[in-house]
Amino acid sequence: MIPQKKRIFSGIQPTGSIHIGNYLGAVQHWVKSQAEFDSIFCIVDLHAITVPQEPGTLKAKIREVTGLLIAAGISPETSVVFVQSQICAHSEMTWILNCFIPMGWMMRMTQFKEKSQKERGMAGVGLFDYPALMAADILLYQTDLVPVGEDQKQHLELTRDVAARFNSIYGDTFKLPEAVIPKTGARIMGLDDPTKKMSKSETNPGHAINLLDSPDEIRAKIMRATTDSLRDIRFDESRPGIYNLLVIYELFTGRSRAEIEASFEGKGYAELKRELAEVITAQLQPLQSRYRELTADPGHIDRLLAEGASKVQPIAEKTLAMVKEKIGLG
Ligand code: AMP
Ligand code: TRP
Repeated sequence: MIPQKKRIFSGIQPTGSIHIGNYLGAVQHWVKSQAEFDSIFCIVDLHAITVPQEPGTLKAKIREVTGLLIAAGISPETSVVFVQSQICAHSEMTWILNCFIPMGWMMRMTQFKEKSQKERGMAGVGLFDYPALMAADILLYQTDLVPVGEDQKQHLELTRDVAARFNSIYGDTFKLPEAVIPKTGARIMGLDDPTKKMSKSETNPGHAINLLDSPDEIRAKIMRATTDSLRDIRFDESRPGIYNLLVIYELFTGRSRAEIEASFEGKGYAELKRELAEVITAQLQPLQSRYRELTADPGHIDRLLAEGASKVQPIAEKTLAMVKEKIGLG
């Protein structure tokens, strides 16, 4: 018998613009591991509405993110891409998990603490419950591995904890998923402020390089990136600005750190920045032209998403039915 492939599940929010942090920390790894795993990628629009969204923009962003994932190399034949809100089981499973997650666990979630501060007392219950929805996403598909950036580690721990708690009450039900966090690139920092994670919700135009940025925008953002007043170009974590630029360079070129340091020996920051802007532009250009081809037919992405939903629905329904039966619902 052919051994079953392990299942990968991950999600991305259809908000803001996908940036090189998302690409280097998550999407690029999803693309590379597709052949080896049974991969499911979810556009998490229900997570997006935990903070206010404009309806027209949200709808358009769902299509944009899908197009970008495929343009980046996710194959709709080998992997599945679908929209979270098209599968009702996610909301239903979230409610059930809510009833098995102690308040104390949720109150420890650092992402909620950070995000709710920004909402100044108007943070919705949905934002608080965000990790339960994420646990539902993962557990519905009996996921083995969850490739994410560093920021999602705590949510993964909560997912495992609630799965283990449910299993201990009702017997083996959920597979316990494992987080896969890349060694390098799990936390790409903002170009304007290298002490802060590059984030879709940051509005300063110099903060992030988005996958659809033009060569001119890329050059301008890199040239303006915050560095320090030292000179030598070395991978030194105590100099966050230059370190971040070098990590981005390393990940886009695939060259070793020693090789990179040697090639910039005696050169200045301006030279590093010029070369980095070229490397990024060269990598993003083919992705951008694939994106334009894919989105030329407006119905194409919708058809791919409908196919994706029809592939995952039976898996989600099966887990949900088993859970409801065990609890005694219905
Ligand atoms: P989000 O932008 O929150 O939808 O995140 C989508 C994926 O990108 C998740 O796996 C995140 O962990 C990852 N990610 C987001 N921001 C960064 C960053 N600055 N560096 C590395 N990975 C990131
Ligand atoms: N919370 C994740 C983020 O912001 C997105 C996400 C939602 C996710 N559901 C998921 C990631 C399930 C992995 C698995 O990045």
